[in-house]
Amino acid sequence: MLVEQNKRTHTDLWKVTDNVMNLEGSIIREILKFSSKPGVINFAGGLPAPELFPVDELKEVAVQVLEKYGPDCLQYSLSRGLIPLRELLAQRATERGTTSDADNILITNGAQQAIELVARAFIEPGDYILTEYPTYVGALQAFNYYQAKYTTVDMDNEGMIVEQAVEKIKHHKPKLIYTISNFQNPTGITMSLRRREQLIEVAREYNIPILDDNPYGDIRFSGERLPTLKSIGGNEVISVRTFSKVLAPGLRIGWVNGPADIITQFEKVKQCADLHTNTFCQYLVYEYVNQGRLDPHIEIIKTDYRTKRDIMLRELEEHFPSGITWTEPEGGLFLWLELPKNISTVDLFQKAIEKEVAYVYGQPFFPDGGGLNTLRLNFATASHEQIVEGIRRLGELFSQHV
Ligand SMILES: Cc1ncc(COP(=O)(O)O)c(C=O)c1O
Repeated sequence: MLVEQNKRTHTDLWKVTDNVMNLEGSIIREILKFSSKPGVINFAGGLPAPELFPVDELKEVAVQVLEKYGPDCLQYSLSRGLIPLRELLAQRATERGTTSDADNILITNGAQQAIELVARAFIEPGDYILTEYPTYVGALQAFNYYQAKYTTVDMDNEGMIVEQAVEKIKHHKPKLIYTISNFQNPTGITMSLRRREQLIEVAREYNIPILDDNPYGDIRFSGERLPTLKSIGGNEVISVRTFSKVLAPGLRIGWVNGPADIITQFEKVKQCADLHTNTFCQYLVYEYVNQGRLDPHIEIIKTDYRTKRDIMLRELEEHFPSGITWTEPEGGLFLWLELPKNISTVDLFQKAIEKEVAYVYGQPFFPDGGGLNTLRLNFATASHEQIVEGIRRLGELFSQHV
């Protein structure tokens, strides 16, 4: 009996729930195992450029926080988040067209937790969520835990094709509309003003909340700034934001802006999850933003990413065979490629790694496992030289197959 038991793992012995057993680990994290090997030019990660993290400034502010707030910044704090930080975020939202106060804001452990809280609050097994096709794989993971089903809407250069959404909504009655309206992960596409207005109209008509996951909105480096879905749709929209891409993801500070009564529901869920977000990091971010350091920092990020995007687009034009198309994002971190239908980017991934260059194949971003001929490139983390060399190598590989 003992011998028999020893063969079994604790996962068997202790009966981990089916919900957890059925979760797939992030394929992207698996891809990152290959791509983070020394020597590999990495276009795969979703990471912002680490050399831009304002380490010295944060060190200065961290010392100030400890001096100014003492034990308070190390103490338990409110589940909803620090009042001064919530007030500041509400004020910034108001200045940009979304009238808000501190009651509309819940501070979370990054945008990922915010998405998870929304799913926990709204989704029961079998409920439909309407998403773009493709969409952010981390959201799919969070939704999968709650056994959501998906009804998906194709995208074009103006984002989600809302006309298509109407039919799907009538048919599946989704509980939630999930969109990444700005510089979408994975495609880099931004929803046009016309589509934003249409989507809000549809959501209103059918009474479905829109979850606008918006980590990249502040990183617009070309084109015209558009009003956010939240500023157009008001209480129709639950907006999820984060400091991950504009400051540093390791701080794990994000927030939700939504109707106050709904935020109260999320707050209860948050209490179950982790009591509250890291107090020290909330003070750190609060002081950083309140001292006027964030906006100039975002300008530095934009300049850097714009140059890198331009280099990548130039090199794609130069080295990629015809038959491959790509998006030209006006902000964010990613661009998105489509190869001819008969080419599998999953199959070519290993060959790319042999050439010491990594991308993320597109398949995980499609809830139904489609998109075999697509891939995502991150232009933000590699150096200029690496972008030139990496795109040259990928161009060589694809030219042999396309
Ligand atoms: C669309 C989208 N939502 C959410 C997240 C998670 O952000 P955070 O680091 O704030 O949890 C990411 C990160 O890549 C993302 O691309």
